[in-house]
Amino acid sequence: MKTLIINIKQLVQVEKNPHSWVAGKDMSHLDIIPNAWLLIEDDKIADFGEMKDLDTEKIYASGDVIKEIDATDRLVMPSYCDSHTHLVYAGSREIEYIDKIRGLSYEEIAKRGGGILNSAQRIRKASENELYDAAYQRIQEIVGYGTGAVEIKSGYGLDTESELKMLRVIRRLKENTPLLIKSTFLGAHAVPIEYKGRQTEYVNLIINEMIPMVASEDLADYIDVFCDKGFFTVEDTDRMLNAGMKYGMRAKIHANELDYSGGIQVGVKYNALSVDHLEYVGDEEIACLLGSETMPTILPGAAFFLNMPYSPVRKMIEAGLPVALASDYNPGSSPSGNMKFIMSLGCINYKMLPEEVINATTINSAYAMGVQEDVGSIAIGKLANFYITTPISGIEYLPYAYTADLVEMVFLKGKQY
Ligand code: NIG
Ligand code: FE
Repeated sequence: MKTLIINIKQLVQVEKNPHSWVAGKDMSHLDIIPNAWLLIEDDKIADFGEMKDLDTEKIYASGDVIKEIDATDRLVMPSYCDSHTHLVYAGSREIEYIDKIRGLSYEEIAKRGGGILNSAQRIRKASENELYDAAYQRIQEIVGYGTGAVEIKSGYGLDTESELKMLRVIRRLKENTPLLIKSTFLGAHAVPIEYKGRQTEYVNLIINEMIPMVASEDLADYIDVFCDKGFFTVEDTDRMLNAGMKYGMRAKIHANELDYSGGIQVGVKYNALSVDHLEYVGDEEIACLLGSETMPTILPGAAFFLNMPYSPVRKMIEAGLPVALASDYNPGSSPSGNMKFIMSLGCINYKMLPEEVINATTINSAYAMGVQEDVGSIAIGKLANFYITTPISGIEYLPYAYTADLVEMVFLKGKQY
């Protein structure tokens, strides 16, 4: 089955020779074909070019069923890759939102048994089917926003059975939804109530019981640790990443959200795929990331929602680093999976250019979840995961119109949703 899209005003993020990521000055460069066509064959991108070079006869001559779509005035964008979410959860946490408005900090709420521990209590009570149904709805929601690949973490279970339950939900989402999904084991999201004051024993439980069981069911692609002030130490993180690596789980970690925690350094030491949050980044952290294979990932939704300091993104890009952006979709610090809004926050709060936020939410975030060979750009042989916009002026309009729904048609693996 072939689909031909013609008269595309801008075919965005095209690559003849796909990159793994874009860094530094290159982040402000984006390849766009104006007045373009795009050919899809089954689930893959088969070809593209300028309208003036389109040989329709040749395309139709092959005799396959062809659906033709006229995209006059519209852009074709590669789907967003959302490389950091916690979208399997039970119940929302708007009460804490009010606490925050009244002046309590994220750490104060966590100390009172709110925050992650609040979600843990609810997830333990929820059945696998309840969690699946709620997460499935959220997947539908983000598909509508133009997301085509998503990483999802466990981390609200905090006991072996509940962590496995969350990961099984993610596995079912992988099997039953058209997105590309990667799963991450985040047993070390917080110390559960029953281990209060016995953090090392909880870390031992993760290493000796949880990781081997997660691996035996092949439930996680990656391993994550919340390495930050008041949560897990560098030493804890070192031990857990080491244990995860033995089972082939590469690290993707929460680091430097609340302090200069050493999380970036320990992540790079274990060749983490990404280090995420990064509100606290200085020269030492930048030097450590340069030359590594670890993608610095910023979560603008969490910093915005919690009124936290903003990561020095300009400084990082100017130093030559790549940067990815992700939503952090979760009930506590970022109850939204809207990647277009994340791009707007990137522009407004981090002074990123439209080209930079598009690179950060496609190619670079694809790398940050290990799917850059399949998605992240419009390239021959990659999966046909993209969306067609409503009629708009050009790429700049996407982050500018910061709440407008500009997605008109979504294609995932070559099929329209
Ligand atoms: O990425 N920083 C740690 N974990 C999540 C928050 C999860 C929650 O509050 O439920 C985050 O922001
Ligand atoms: Fe997170």
